[in-house]
Amino acid sequence: MEFDSKIKTIEWKNNTSKVIDQTKLPYEFKIADITTCEQMYNAIKNMIVRGAPAIGIAGAHGVALAALELSRKTGTKEDFLNKLNRKAEYLKSARPTAVNLMWAIDKQMKLVGETDCDIKTITEKLIKNGVKLENEDIEINKKIGEYGAQIVPKGAGILTHCNAGALATVGYGTALGVIRSAYAKDSTIKVFADETRPRQQGARLTTWELVQDGIPVTLITDGMCSYLMSKGMINMVVTGADRIAANGDSANKIGTYTVAIAAKYHNIPFYIAAPLSTIDISIESGDKIPIEERSHDEVTHINGERICAEGVNIINPGFDVTPNGLISGIITEKGILKPNYKNSIAQAMSIILR
Ligand code: MRU
Repeated sequence: MEFDSKIKTIEWKNNTSKVIDQTKLPYEFKIADITTCEQMYNAIKNMIVRGAPAIGIAGAHGVALAALELSRKTGTKEDFLNKLNRKAEYLKSARPTAVNLMWAIDKQMKLVGETDCDIKTITEKLIKNGVKLENEDIEINKKIGEYGAQIVPKGAGILTHCNAGALATVGYGTALGVIRSAYAKDSTIKVFADETRPRQQGARLTTWELVQDGIPVTLITDGMCSYLMSKGMINMVVTGADRIAANGDSANKIGTYTVAIAAKYHNIPFYIAAPLSTIDISIESGDKIPIEERSHDEVTHINGERICAEGVNIINPGFDVTPNGLISGIITEKGILKPNYKNSIAQAMSIILR
């Protein structure tokens, strides 16, 4: 049985990028209509659209929107191209950690570089390519799901952190893609979702989307995972990633590293599920991955309400890096990459090692 998710997080329609506003979930389901490059920058920055593959597609749509805006103005092609380049760089600066954003924008700009035609045709090509990347994302996630489902033990308890689901991609999800495919084969698996402070993507988004698809899920707070592991309730961990270095070190939502350490201690396999577009081979190891520092309000407040004394010191790194030694495998659309990651990643990316 094939499991299909009803959720489409981002979709290009009538020169508009339509995105599910994730700041409103789970209280309200609202589609935001994004019609300008600036609106897209703000949507990514303010996490109306979030999750590495989803912000990649948002970036690709953003470039198409920028081209549309610029094509309506009079000016030379050179002027158009210069301005488009600046807008592409601006979009890339919306969030620093997820490399899918840079990857998708670079894909769009490469297309522009290879195209020797008029402004109207360039704009049309950018729109077409944005839609192509959008459709490919779902196919890639389904492949990740198929590969991942093969290694899920019967009746397993599976823990995931943050939201690497349909909402973090165009649809179906990476880590939740594995869970969706596994559930289609074996409805006795048990899914556990970490709450994922400070933005609560696990509580707000992962549980919401699994409930939409009728997949039972148990919500736990971030500190509970070791206890559940010690009781034998968790047999496998699968999370997404925002950027994977050439040696397999993987950046994902803050707290992922803690879960990976707990899994290692309890001899539980810890998997990353991510498309190859999340791998940044220009970065040798995880210590070079830029980590986003987010607003301190996210820590001091929950739902607008202050939860700590005035005057406390705060740090709020949005991501951490799980060292490759804690990762049992990286589930990609080309199969499951195993250690030594330097070799398996290079092979998957078709790079000849020197
Ligand atoms: O800050 P967010 O919500 O964009 O962070 C998202 C994550 O960390 C996801 O796990 C990651 O992007 C993988 S999504 C398939």
